[in-house]
Order: sequence, then structure tokens, then C-alpha cells
Amino acid sequence: MTRQATQGRLRFLSGMQPSGRLHLGNWLGALETWVAAQRTHDCYFFVADWHALSTNYSDTNQIRTWTREMIIDWLTAGLDPERSTLFVQSRIPEHAVLHVILSMITPVPWLERNPTYKEKQEELKERDLTTYGFLGYPVLQAADILIYLPDAVPVGVDQLPHLELCREIARRFNHLYRKPVFKEPAAELATHAQKIPGTDGRKMSKSYNNAIYLTDNEATVREKLRTMVTDPARVKRTDKGNPDVCPVFSLHKVLSPPAVIERVNRECRTAEIGCIDCKKLVADALVTRLTPLWEKRKELERHPDQVDMIMEQGCQKAQQVARQTVQQVYNVIGL
Ligand code: TRP
Ligand code: SF4
Repeated sequence: MTRQATQGRLRFLSGMQPSGRLHLGNWLGALETWVAAQRTHDCYFFVADWHALSTNYSDTNQIRTWTREMIIDWLTAGLDPERSTLFVQSRIPEHAVLHVILSMITPVPWLERNPTYKEKQEELKERDLTTYGFLGYPVLQAADILIYLPDAVPVGVDQLPHLELCREIARRFNHLYRKPVFKEPAAELATHAQKIPGTDGRKMSKSYNNAIYLTDNEATVREKLRTMVTDPARVKRTDKGNPDVCPVFSLHKVLSPPAVIERVNRECRTAEIGCIDCKKLVADALVTRLTPLWEKRKELERHPDQVDMIMEQGCQKAQQVARQTVQQVYNVIGL
């Protein structure tokens, strides 16, 4: 895409940590928003591999593989390198330059009162998260964002405190150096965020072992759905069900055509449809949605050099933008 073509469009930027294969929750909760945004926005998406170090610094042997796998998952889901700039954080050292500058102007109490700081430390008690880098996680995130001057950042609700901090840091910078260098980006919440249940009915998550992965094949997807939990009060085939409390119905609402959703909603309540058939319908819908991703994956497996080229070109393009911002920052500070 030429420079002219991107002019006048709003810019989107977002990132994901490389923490393993992507599942339906990541896909429908976040990635679909990104894919849709490509049609209307100038998009930048990156793998946040430095951020992965903040909690996994002692176990790094998978990071490089997962970074590449993540780009492949993105491509299969429809991120288009002709439309979006796809890149890897650690390959753009300018993020670190801006991070060090922003760290000079960010008061530590802003970081200490960040709710995710305490929560993550509680959640990952077995790891030592008293590090400087972990406290500074949101400063690095602010650098990732601000360096591309985006208008909006599509994220999940869990990231809202980080976005707020990012805006505060931008404001403080602009105020201190009396130049509106940074835009304050808006948070763009994903539509299906948090509505994707796993096969056990809890939120889909890698750590709950309840996830359906984009890399799962058709047989695996069907088997996982066949054994998915349903309305717990519906024990016998003749029991009437309540779709409102059934995780399978939540999947229908995201995946199935309106006519199927309407039918399940009606026939479950009267016990006309049974859970086995109902789950088969949702499996059909999911297989239909996943088939193009499976095909794209096969194509990419045949041309692994394509993936490397996409990463290389995306990094080059991102770096051009990042360099310009760092230059501007140096100028206004007087470095
Ligand atoms: N913190 C984000 C997450 O865990 C990942 C991330 C890092 C990010 N830098 C970012 C997201 C910049 C959006 C913008 O999901
Ligand atoms: Fe859930 Fe479908 Fe069974 Fe109703 S019929 S309880 S919606 S699986």
C-alpha cells in the first residue's frame, strides 16, 4: 500500500504477547476486530516479545517460535500484509529508546497503583515479579503505542488501565516539552471480548485447558465440541433446557447464522432439539468458519520463506515510522 493510500485514514495499533498458539477466544475476541479494521484503517500490529519477557524472563526458549507462530496465526485469520504492517517489537529498538525517555518522566506511584501490577503478582505468585521491568511494563507499552502516533488501540478491557496510563504519559510529555508530539489514543473495545466460553463453560483460556485452537483440525474441533458442557440442569434428552445459561449457545450466538440461533433458542426450551444435535450445528458453523484458515495455513506451510519476508518487510516499514518519532522526540527535548 502506498503512502498516499494510507493518508487520511485513522491509524490503529495493537500488540499481543507471544504466549503460545491462538485459540477461538483470541480470534473472535480480538483478531477479528483487527481483520475488520484493515478495510478502514491504517493498521499496525506487532508481537510484543519483550513484554513476554516481563513475566517469562526465566523461560525464553519458546519465545522465538511462538513469535513466528503468532504471525502465522494472524495471517491465517486474515491479516493481510498488503493492508497492515505486521512486525516484531524486539526488532524495532526505537521502542526501547522511547521507553527510556518516557521512564524519565513517569512517576513510580502511577505504576504502583496500576491494578494489573498487583493482580498479576498475586496470580503468578511462584514467579519473582518484583523486577524493574515488570513495574515498567505499562511504560514500555506506552512507548509501543505512542511511537506510531495511532488514533486508536483495539484492546480487551483488561488493558484499559494501561491505555489510561499511556494517555497520561503522553499528556505529561506534551506538557513538559510544550509541543503536542503525541496523540492521546482512544481504546477500541473488541465486540465479542470475554464472551467466548471454553469447552468447560469457563472463559476460554490456554491455562484452563478448555481451548479450541486455530491449529486444531476438523476432527479435533468436532470432538472438543461434542464433549462441551451444556446447561447443567438439562440432564435427560426430554428435559427442557435454558440456552441463556448454556455455553454452547454463547458459541452459537457468535458463530451460527441467525436462523440457527433462533431455532436453537426456541427448540432448546421445548426440548425439541437435543444437545447432541445442537452441538453438531455449532460444530458445522465453526468448521465452515475455520476452513479458509486451514487452507491458508497449508499454503503458508508450503512457503515458509513468505512468512519471513512478511515479517522482514513489516519491520522495515514500522521502523521508518518509529525512527521519525524518535527524531522528533530528540528534537523537542533537545538531545
Ligand atoms: N499488554 C498487551 C497484552 O498483554 C500487549 C501489548 C504490549 C500491547 N504492547 C501493546 C497492546 C501496545 C496494545 C498496544 O495484551
Ligand atoms: Fe445448550 Fe443446545 Fe443443549 Fe440447549 S440444546 S442446553 S443450547 S447444548
